[in-house]
Amino acid sequence: MTSSFRDAIYAVRKARLGLERRRLDYGRETRERADRLAEVLPASAAELRGYEREYDDLEWFHDGYADRVDEIHAAGVAADTTHWRDGVTLYVVCRALGIETVVETGVLFGSFDAHILAALCENGGGTLHAVDLPGGPPGPFAYGHLIPDRCRDRWDLHRGDAREVLPELLEEVGPVDLFLHDSDHRLPHMRFEYETALSHLASGGVLASHDVRLSRLFDQFAETNGLRSCVVCDTGIARRPR
Ligand SMILES: C[S@@+](CC[C@H](N)C(=O)[O-])C[C@H]1O[C@@H](n2cnc3c(N)ncnc32)[C@H](O)[C@@H]1O
Repeated sequence: MTSSFRDAIYAVRKARLGLERRRLDYGRETRERADRLAEVLPASAAELRGYEREYDDLEWFHDGYADRVDEIHAAGVAADTTHWRDGVTLYVVCRALGIETVVETGVLFGSFDAHILAALCENGGGTLHAVDLPGGPPGPFAYGHLIPDRCRDRWDLHRGDAREVLPELLEEVGPVDLFLHDSDHRLPHMRFEYETALSHLASGGVLASHDVRLSRLFDQFAETNGLRSCVVCDTGIARRPR
C-alpha cells in the first residue's frame, strides 16, 4: 500500500472519529470509568472511585495545570492536546497499580505526562520515559509544558522517531509497568508500537492507547494477545495477566 493511500485512509478515519466524538456521551463515559476499569484491573470500582476523588482534590496539581492550559489556549495552539478526562484515567490506573516504570510516545504539551507524573509523585516513586520527534510543539512552548515543576525530575524526554527510539529504550529500561501510545495514529505505526511494547510489558503490566476509536485495532490486538481491555472516553486500557 502506498503511503499517500494510507494517509487518505487515515484522513477518512479521523473524519469519522470526529463525528463519533460529537455523539459520544462523555458524561456517561466518565461516570462509568471506575466500573469499566474494575473489569480489567485488580481493584474494586469503589477503590478506583477513591482515586478519582483524590485527583479532584489534588490542589497542588490543578492550580498550575489550569494556568498552563490557559496559556496554550491563549496562544491558539491547543488543538491536539489530549483532554484531561483521559489523563484522569491514566492517573487512576497508575495509583491503583502503584506503577513505577512508564514509557510513552507522543508528548506534545504533556497532558498525559502531567497526569501520569502526578500519580507517580503521589505513589512516591517511578519514572516516565517519554518519546517525541525532534523539534517541539507549536507556539512558544517546549514539550511537556503542562508538567508541574514538582514532577519534572521523574520525567525523561527522548527525542526521535518512536520507530527508531522505542526498541532500544524498552530494552534499556527493562520490563515496563505501563506503556502508552499517543504518537502517530496511522495503523501500521500503532501496530508497531503495540507489538514492540508488548514484549517488554511486565507481568500484570498495562498497555494503554489514545484514540482507539479510530479503528478496531486496539480491541483486536488485546483479544489476540489474551489481554483484558476496556475503553473509557478515547483511551484504551489493556492488562497483561499475571
Ligand atoms: C496527539 S499529539 C500527543 C498529545 C499528548 N499525548 C497529550 O497528552 O496532549 C501527538 C504527538 O506525537 C508526536 N509524534 C508523531 N509521530 C511520532 C513518531 N513517529 N515518533 C514519536 N513521536 C511522534 C507528535 O510530534 C505529537 O507531539
